[in-house]
Amino acid sequence: MVPWKRSRRILLCVTGGIAAYKIPDLVSRLKKLDCEIETALTEAAETLVSPLALATLSGRRVWLQSDFLSPGRGFEIPHIHLADWAEVVVVAPCSADAAFGVAHGRAANIVEAAALATQAPVLLFPAMNVHMFENPATQQNLKILAERGQRVVDPAFGLLACGYEGKGRLPDTDLILEEIAYALSPKRDLEGKHVLVTAGPTREYLDPVRFISNPSSGKMGLAMARTAWYRGARVRVILGPASVGCVHGLEIRGVISALEMRDAVMENLDWADCVVKAAAVGDYRARDRADRKIKRDSADELSLPLIQNPDIAAEAGTRKRPGRLLVGFAAETNDVLENARAKMDRKGLDVIVANDVSARNCGFGVDTNTVRMLSRQGDFSFSGSKEEVADAIWDKLSGLF
Ligand code: C5P
Repeated sequence: MVPWKRSRRILLCVTGGIAAYKIPDLVSRLKKLDCEIETALTEAAETLVSPLALATLSGRRVWLQSDFLSPGRGFEIPHIHLADWAEVVVVAPCSADAAFGVAHGRAANIVEAAALATQAPVLLFPAMNVHMFENPATQQNLKILAERGQRVVDPAFGLLACGYEGKGRLPDTDLILEEIAYALSPKRDLEGKHVLVTAGPTREYLDPVRFISNPSSGKMGLAMARTAWYRGARVRVILGPASVGCVHGLEIRGVISALEMRDAVMENLDWADCVVKAAAVGDYRARDRADRKIKRDSADELSLPLIQNPDIAAEAGTRKRPGRLLVGFAAETNDVLENARAKMDRKGLDVIVANDVSARNCGFGVDTNTVRMLSRQGDFSFSGSKEEVADAIWDKLSGLF
């Protein structure tokens, strides 16, 4: 998730789709990310999700239709207060009726009125029956919203509550959180830039079932990719075999071996304004990969000749073009800075990010990192979650374009 440096204010508008039952989970996740959440419900939503559950999880009262233009509330105008308070307005699920209401400025309920009154970005997550979603009337309303600069996120494909299978599901909570992080991102300094990231380990097969690899989780590379997307870049990731979470917003290409990773990087090199080589690429592969499983009884001792893999970063370093930044990562266990500096020169890198993978809470597998970033412009140290470190690295890199 995004490295928020302070608590964020989110107005969550719930409208009448059955997916409203998933919203307490979203509120709970946002709360754990140190957000303040106000929830506003249409009358239909009140019948589908418990206001008490939302109030308990958000730690705040819930705004209902009965609060809208209610004489009992005196001079308070809840929809204006909510609209002004929010840093982002999220309509999830957004029913066909709510899409119409917001697109046409109807202001017939607290949700529509708040969406109309806010100056904050509005994020809409339509979720409904597939035929309702695909109906030209709904599509037209969503198009109006998108053309006005509001972010309309396509529903997911799957089995729908109505029994149909198709496009109409509310996306997973992880995806919604990524979209909120994107909307709240304070920087868009990579807008228009193409960023190519390699991440994860490679696997060099010895036979059909055994391979040489390393414990890289891909987390640092994906943190670099995700934070570049938050800043407005188009991001492609060449990802080795790693189990990763939500990769929403990123164009992912999965590869297995170093040779496959090399080919994928070279295919995308001309496209890229910045290449971040965060993958832990295997230096060697089997010279003669066995077609069948190597049997235990074939010999007491087994020697497997290994040959060197191409150095992808070094090859990219020979194909530089003006304006393209080449960033390497160096995982070291000793003489971290000396080794990193030598690699930067040998591979023709503009920047190298070095970390001591033998230190605690650093490098492979963990969620935190401590790095030294070396470039011709200077030497910097960053420490924190991998996303915080990635964000700090982009702060420096964006000044180098
Ligand atoms: O493995 P080494 O320490 O030399 O890796 C440093 C940098 O070079 C990393 O950015 C890594 O992704 C890249 N590399 C590569 N191809 C290799 C080995 C490493 O691109 N075969």
